[in-house]
Amino acid sequence: MPNKIELNNISQAYYIKSSETNKKVKFYALKDFTLSVSDGEFVVVVGPSGCGKSTLLDILSGLFKANSGSIAIDGQIVNGPALDRGFVMQSYALFPWRTIKKNVEFGLELKKIPKKERGEISASFIELVGLHGYENRYPYELSGGMKQRVAIARALAYDPKVLLMDEPFAAVDAQTREKLQDELVSIWQKTNKTIIFVTHSIEEAVTLADRVVVMTENPGTIKEIVPINLPRPRISVEAGISEAYSAFVSRIWGLLHNAEESFESARL
Ligand SMILES: Nc1ncnc2c1ncn2[C@@H]1O[C@H](COP(=O)(O)OP(=O)(O)OP(=O)(O)O)[C@@H](O)[C@H]1O
Ligand SMILES: [Mg+2]
Repeated sequence: MPNKIELNNISQAYYIKSSETNKKVKFYALKDFTLSVSDGEFVVVVGPSGCGKSTLLDILSGLFKANSGSIAIDGQIVNGPALDRGFVMQSYALFPWRTIKKNVEFGLELKKIPKKERGEISASFIELVGLHGYENRYPYELSGGMKQRVAIARALAYDPKVLLMDEPFAAVDAQTREKLQDELVSIWQKTNKTIIFVTHSIEEAVTLADRVVVMTENPGTIKEIVPINLPRPRISVEAGISEAYSAFVSRIWGLLHNAEESFESARL
């Protein structure tokens, strides 16, 4: 498979005031982050809070430029946001002045898709995320989980080749989360999208990923990449959870646990 995304030595540092010495110290949100992602690959990033996951996605989206390093998508250096990437942010980031339908149709308008087709596409994605009947409501009238589902529908609707998803299912209930995970895998399988997905849930990572990137914090960098070579679907009502699945969960849990321990001992 050709590489879709190349991240080369990305570093992003901040100068923060140390609470102990009151002096400014250099803090690496990301340091020398290098990763190649294949076309059509599903990569999930996990790591402790503050290790640079959202920073990484912000840089990939083009909304934010790193201090150093480069990103290429299809061999083209990323200099800003573009419609080849869909972004579901950690906070919903909906347009408050647009209805749900109009939020979902935003990317389609930019792509100059005719009104009738826009309506059909938005209706199918609003249905997919379980919000049929809410088309003409405004974001303030929705719960947190519902808003997040609108953000997912909006990112999927205009069919970007690359999807960047920052804890997209964190605010939804467990049942909806499982449904959305299944739907995302089936959309991914049908459309050959390349997905970079951030989560705090190890189970979610093992359920979804081709590879799980485990990060450490300060400096935010890759600790290990774990390929998940399990057939899909990985959890089903009939088969439940396999031993191989649980072994991956334990392995990643161990990696994260050590990551946090080594950070604690580095500070002492
Ligand atoms: N503008 C800023 N100034 C100083 N530090 C910042 C700034 N933006 C981010 N950081 C720091 O960079 C680090 C990485 O932040 P980031 O939001 O990427 O973490 P994260 O891995 O997404 O965490 P979470 O899992 O809690 O969402 C954090 O320690 C954060 O405090
Ligand atoms: Mg984050």
